[in-house]
Amino acid sequence: MQFMNASIVIPTYNERDNIQELLERTHRSLEPLGNSYEMIIVDDDSPDETWKLASQYTDAYHVRTVRRRGKKGLATAVLEGVNAARYDIIVVMDADLQHPPEKIPTLISCVQNGADIAIGSRFIENGTSVEFNLLRYVASKGAGILARTLFREVRNVKDIESGFFAFKKDVVVHTDLRPIGYKILLELLVQGSYSTVTEVGYTFGKRKAGASKLGVKNTAAYLRHVSSLFYRSGELRRFAQFCAVGGAGAVLNLAVLYMLTELGMFYGAAGLIAIEVGLLSNFVLNRSWTFKDRGVTGFKSTMAALGRDHAVRAVGIILNLAILLILTSLFGVFYLLSQLIGLIVGMVWNYGGNQWWTWESKP
Ligand code: GDD
Ligand code: MN
Repeated sequence: MQFMNASIVIPTYNERDNIQELLERTHRSLEPLGNSYEMIIVDDDSPDETWKLASQYTDAYHVRTVRRRGKKGLATAVLEGVNAARYDIIVVMDADLQHPPEKIPTLISCVQNGADIAIGSRFIENGTSVEFNLLRYVASKGAGILARTLFREVRNVKDIESGFFAFKKDVVVHTDLRPIGYKILLELLVQGSYSTVTEVGYTFGKRKAGASKLGVKNTAAYLRHVSSLFYRSGELRRFAQFCAVGGAGAVLNLAVLYMLTELGMFYGAAGLIAIEVGLLSNFVLNRSWTFKDRGVTGFKSTMAALGRDHAVRAVGIILNLAILLILTSLFGVFYLLSQLIGLIVGMVWNYGGNQWWTWESKP
């Protein structure tokens, strides 16, 4: 297959000692493939004048340099490069040679062969990282768990932290991207429009020169980014809908219990029926409202989802009861407080179960 044109977006801040080798190696890895490419250096007005050095290679290596005044941050720099890109395939890469330019053709060919997004990954076959820092490792694991819990789009992606990836421009064309901090890939995966993602193993090498600009202080930016994404992606609204549906179910439960008991039924039996009616109402409303986008329709899929939902809720009830008993009899907590805690834990459990399992649309 012929090589398609690609724009390589490279954010830089004080990368004077890396930029020449970077441009040269990138050029060498793309040049033999023919066709056109461009490298877009987005520099935040580096004091070491990386922008100036880069612009000397404008003609030799198809370099375009964007110099932004004032340090504005990595993710928005990448975004600016993406917006300036001329070609339909975009590759994002760091400037410090921790991302091997020789891997770019592989990423591009994944996109050419059908992937919408191809991620350079440290955590799959043939992927590794030569640098190991315990603090960074723990922070990155925690960040991954948080993102995977909140956003199902990234559940199966191994390296969501990656700053080395290629994608079709279509993925972002109609998308409002507002990254904070430096996780531009997370923004793309949650907000972009795409269907296929692949990962390509690569070795995250040692920084050639200079020092990393990212540190633990980025945790705050990451948390702000995640909460803003939680809101913008509609997941916060989904959670609110789930709570509203649950509230309505509880009211219905009480109403049915009251009616049947007043009609002369034993309140224990009435309570069982009330529970089931509440569960069914939750199920129906969640199916056609909260989780409508999951497309659970048709008799078979609906019945399967109903079974999963009941399994989830049954465990939720057991959890709730266990917490009530343990907190109150073992730790002497006032029983109403224990129950409140039990209810909240049960609700979070139920939401997690619905989010992760009940509404997966396969039968
Ligand atoms: N324009 C601009 N503005 N560029 C920046 C800024 C900024 O404020 N901060 C950093 N950069 C550039 C650097 O010059 C480098 O090219 C790239 O962004 C990555 O910065 P590093 O400081 O080298 O980051 P890192 O090595 O700690 O982290 C990298 O690896 C992580 C793990 O894969 C980044 O790629 C992260 O995104 C990635 O999560
Ligand atoms: Mn780096």
